[in-house]
Amino acid sequence: MRISIIVAVASNGVIGRNNDLVWRLRDDMKFFSETTRGQAVITGRKNYESIPEKFRPLPHRTNIVVTRNTEYAAPGAQVVHSLQEALDAAAVAGAEEAFIIGGGEIYRQALERDDVGRALLTHVDAAPEGDTFFDLSAVAAGWDRVSHGRFEVDERNEHAFEIVEYTRTAP
Ligand SMILES: NC(=O)c1ccc[n+]([C@@H]2O[C@H](COP(=O)([O-])OP(=O)(O)OC[C@H]3O[C@@H](n4cnc5c(N)ncnc54)[C@H](OP(=O)(O)O)[C@@H]3O)[C@@H](O)[C@H]2O)c1
Repeated sequence: MRISIIVAVASNGVIGRNNDLVWRLRDDMKFFSETTRGQAVITGRKNYESIPEKFRPLPHRTNIVVTRNTEYAAPGAQVVHSLQEALDAAAVAGAEEAFIIGGGEIYRQALERDDVGRALLTHVDAAPEGDTFFDLSAVAAGWDRVSHGRFEVDERNEHAFEIVEYTRTAP
């Protein structure tokens, strides 16, 4: 099973504020939705709760929520208590790929692992204020970079952005 990170990150590393996203990028949402469809998505409990209730669990994919709360219930999703347990659950569910979909605390733990082989980063041309960050320097040395295209500002996308696939070349 391939293990990947998928994240949209501003040039200053911001990914969120007040447990919400800080932009509206419909084409990035579409990319996220198409890329993760049919696979497993692994999310921290806070990110999961930031998804409007009517949209969760995310349809057509195995949703795995990580929490330290052993009483936590997320109807329609699997609840686990560590990132490793989440990856094990994704493998048991038969996913070809497990996507780590955030938020900040979960990404930090994912970036410490050397079995995360791919990172899909949407580089957003903005530097908003925020309280949650992704460490862009963690996918620099030791990763190959392939661009999947740029999107300009339009009625669908509040900022320009580029989707870049990073593949790990060295542990
Ligand atoms: N731009 C993007 O692509 C993107 C993507 C995703 C999220 N975000 C943003 O990120 C923010 C949320 O991130 P966050 O860092 O605050 O929270 P988070 O990573 O979504 O969730 C943190 C929670 O996950 C659980 N957790 C973390 N590590 C664990 C472990 N090792 N074992 C068991 N449980 C663990 C804990 O839940 P309990 O407290 O229940 O124990 C913890 O409070 C939001 O603003 C969201 O919009 C942005």
